Amino acid sequence: MSSYRIVGAKRPHGDVNISGSKNAVLGILAAAMMLDGPCTIENVPDIVDVRAMLEICETLGAKITPVSDGTYEIDPTKINTFEATNVKVKNIRASYYLLGALLTRFRKATMYMPGGCNFGNRPIDLHLKGFQKMGAKGTRATDIRDGIIRIVADELKGTHIFLDVVSVGATINLMLAATKANGVTVIENAAKEPHIVDVANFLNAMGANIKGAGTDTIRVKGVPVLPGGYSYSVIPDQIEAGTYMIAAAVTRGDVTIHNLIPKHMEPLTVKMLEMGYNIEQGDDWIRVSIDDDVELEPTNFKTSPYPGFPTDLQPQATVMLCQARGLSRMHENVWDNRFQYIPELQSMGATISVVEKMALVNGPVHFSGASVNALDLRAGAAMVLAGLAADGVTTVYSANRIDRGYEKILEKLRGIGAEIEHIDDELEHNPSEEE
Ligand code: UD1
Repeated sequence: MSSYRIVGAKRPHGDVNISGSKNAVLGILAAAMMLDGPCTIENVPDIVDVRAMLEICETLGAKITPVSDGTYEIDPTKINTFEATNVKVKNIRASYYLLGALLTRFRKATMYMPGGCNFGNRPIDLHLKGFQKMGAKGTRATDIRDGIIRIVADELKGTHIFLDVVSVGATINLMLAATKANGVTVIENAAKEPHIVDVANFLNAMGANIKGAGTDTIRVKGVPVLPGGYSYSVIPDQIEAGTYMIAAAVTRGDVTIHNLIPKHMEPLTVKMLEMGYNIEQGDDWIRVSIDDDVELEPTNFKTSPYPGFPTDLQPQATVMLCQARGLSRMHENVWDNRFQYIPELQSMGATISVVEKMALVNGPVHFSGASVNALDLRAGAAMVLAGLAADGVTTVYSANRIDRGYEKILEKLRGIGAEIEHIDDELEHNPSEEE
């Protein structure tokens, strides 16, 4: 177990480079398990969740060869089991993509229920109902025994699927299962997140026929073979980029964040401009700064599926709202229980009350260093941000949760002048709380 110790109240300045997208690469690695030939994946972030997924893929029989920093050659041709029962499946949420991938490869898939329930009920009923419509059996809730899902299909048939809730996971999983199905599958009310487009682009580069990813209607024409044989570079991580933008904002620093896609950041940049920050941007960079005499305006955020404001930036943005003068509101519309970190922020001086799905934030707050917990990945990132803004020393316990999604976070923060170090701690880490 590990902690971060932060000496706050510095004003970071300089440059940060963003790594490959965690949620995109996890989908792409699962998708690679369906290929009929090898492929190369570039810009793979070295984070705990990716290491777990690579290990799971290896236990299925895939050959994974590191070629250089962040580049892996993946050969799935020797995969010899449809059973994803490596214990790490229970640790990461994105292991659910192996259901779609193994169902495609073997017409059957056996897997532990994926981890993750720390911000509310996290069903996968939409994934299973979609598989059922494509011809799979074993997809009812009552079929799940001892936490293990076992699905089989004589044949995967193209079909019409309407998702009654916009779900990132279900959209990608059904896209995977449709890729080699017989006929055409149409997924309506699909999620539109950048990593959905990235998984579709990866599959198309490897021989699939997927159209409409990034819109609410995705059309997948099943192909008999996915030859692979190409190299594919993962998109930058929208959430990591947003976290560093907010790091600059909450410290009144001046930081340029490189290797991001500015379009993906619009839901954040528009709010930062409204609050009074300066935003400059180019093709693949954004600079965040603030004039010395500016008092930040309060504002309201509502999380929603892309292109709305991402729920995975909600805890970090709440720290930013603490800097504005007056009352701001943060509405959490995706998850039922994603304000568990608020008492940790309160212990650093925040004045926030939660009314149902809304946090009422009163600012400006002068954070004071304290000992706080990283209750999950993004809540942990929010604690780091508050620690950077705070007077005095902040210790963030269970910081290993943050390592799941942020490559070289200490190095990157130190590179812009933050004082942050890693220390060991004794606290228990609950590995089932994964994004
Ligand atoms: C993914 C992300 C997670 C992010 C979330 C929303 C990964 C690995 N995780 O999670 O970081 O917070 O998108 O952007 O990419 N739902 C159902 N039935 C289902 C599936 C989902 O009702 O079968 C509901 C959920 O309860 C939730 C909403 O749909 O209210 C969105 O969930 P979803 O988009 O599926 O999230 P994940 O894919 O689990």
